[in-house]
Amino acid sequence: MSEIPGQIRYLETLVGIEQDSLRGFFVGWRSPLTPERHLEVLRGSREVVLAWDDELRRVVGFINALSDGHVCAFIPLLEVLPEFRGCGIGSELVRRLLSRLESYYAVDVICDAEVIPFYKRFGLFEGKSMMRRNYT
Ligand SMILES: CC(C)(COP(=O)(O)OP(=O)(O)OC[C@H]1O[C@@H](n2cnc3c(N)ncnc32)[C@H](O)[C@@H]1OP(=O)(O)O)[C@@H](O)C(=O)NCCC(=O)NCCS
Repeated sequence: MSEIPGQIRYLETLVGIEQDSLRGFFVGWRSPLTPERHLEVLRGSREVVLAWDDELRRVVGFINALSDGHVCAFIPLLEVLPEFRGCGIGSELVRRLLSRLESYYAVDVICDAEVIPFYKRFGLFEGKSMMRRNYT
């Protein structure tokens, strides 16, 4: 694992975050969200954790959760900018979010097969799910 850049801070609020600091995410998506929509998605989320680079003054990783506020939560998005991967930022985002959701009965994630080992590190286990996607 590479060293975690010292200038990274973890924020659990969107106060002071502007769309300009949310560039570069949704790598590989057919229709990447614009920074404006990304900010709207984060604002609509019950919980967010951001990895903020103090030197670059931008967000380099984020995770969010949607929930009923009591029992169930769903983690729809987690991403670290490619140049910041492999130095523990993704793990720290997951740890911090799971700790905020500690009292919940269910915390669910739907992910690609290659990310399953990553989530297993945090005590999540595999289950069956149903889903619908709108690719247009
Ligand atoms: C998944 C992701 C968030 C991990 O972020 P990261 O900052 O690189 O993660 P960490 O540095 O904390 O990695 C922790 C460990 O998980 C492993 N890991 C990271 N991403 C992985 C992946 N996609 N598949 C399998 N293992 C992975 C790393 O190799 C590392 O292992 P190590 O500790 O033995 O070196 C990042 O790769 C990413 O943004 N991927 C694209 C988006 C994505 O797949 N998000 C998940 C959607 S549900």
